[in-house]
Amino acid sequence: MTSLEVYLDFATSLAQECGQIILEASITRYSKTKKVYEKHGNSSDLVTETDKMVEELIRSRIISKFPEHRFIGEETTAAGHQCELTNDPTWIVDPIDGTTNFVHGFPFVAVCIGLTINKEPVVGAIFNPFLNQLFTARKGNGAYLNLNTKLPLSHPNPPPILPSNLSQCLIVTEYGSDRSPMVIGKKVQSIHNMVSKSGNVNSSNKNAGSVHGVRSLGSAALGIMEVVKGEADIFWEIGCWEWDVTAAIIILREAGGLIVSGNGPNEEPVDILGRKYLAVRAGSPFWLENCGMLLKR
Ligand code: IPD
Repeated sequence: MTSLEVYLDFATSLAQECGQIILEASITRYSKTKKVYEKHGNSSDLVTETDKMVEELIRSRIISKFPEHRFIGEETTAAGHQCELTNDPTWIVDPIDGTTNFVHGFPFVAVCIGLTINKEPVVGAIFNPFLNQLFTARKGNGAYLNLNTKLPLSHPNPPPILPSNLSQCLIVTEYGSDRSPMVIGKKVQSIHNMVSKSGNVNSSNKNAGSVHGVRSLGSAALGIMEVVKGEADIFWEIGCWEWDVTAAIIILREAGGLIVSGNGPNEEPVDILGRKYLAVRAGSPFWLENCGMLLKR
């Protein structure tokens, strides 16, 4: 077995085990014993005991199996640990991506385990226990749903639609947890540009007209997985974190998709720590050029 195979096996079984814990913990919501906390008094940035417990489980398993590897986790960072990405093998983990969904029982919740080597994502496992969907990839070996279905999905009927311009795209985006008026105002303006008839492009432009639709799932990782599957065309978010996207980046790339930082093609390659991500599914690179124009602020 190559070392990447070993790492992916480890990440996959750990994600499945943690998914089961998350599923069982979700039942406690109904017995009102689940404790929900706001991070820094922010009602749109939640953490539960399950987030902390699952992250600690993942961290301790990594330390005992790969003591020389480094670790970056959402809750460990929130607790004050410094987040430093080096060339060393580094596990980047979100114990529950979609914590607000988890609190409400909205079934887009995932444990995300990614590994970088030389700052590049090489292994990723994302498991949504509510929908029983497991996404995995290692560099050079393709991406898979539930271990044996190759990604992107090929729908026999109807055939996958390849948009010929932006107005034919289905876009996934997120409002994020920073709800300060300036930040949310810019995001809402971008979403307005996407959905309004004229947007910020004039009618002689081939992109005039609104996009097919804009969706928001409450989990950045699962939003990117919709692009990976080919069920959405574009994912865009400014403000999510490296633990939301590291596993997703390698799965997306292995499924033929592309991810850049921020708003356009000139910002390639993606900066994992940059908190600005634009992903497009396998297919025409022209989308990316036009995305920049649509999202420009
Ligand atoms: C959040 C989710 C959300 C996104 C935020 C993330 P969390 O992660 O992915 O969809 O908009 O930016 O921080 O807090 O649920 O792990």
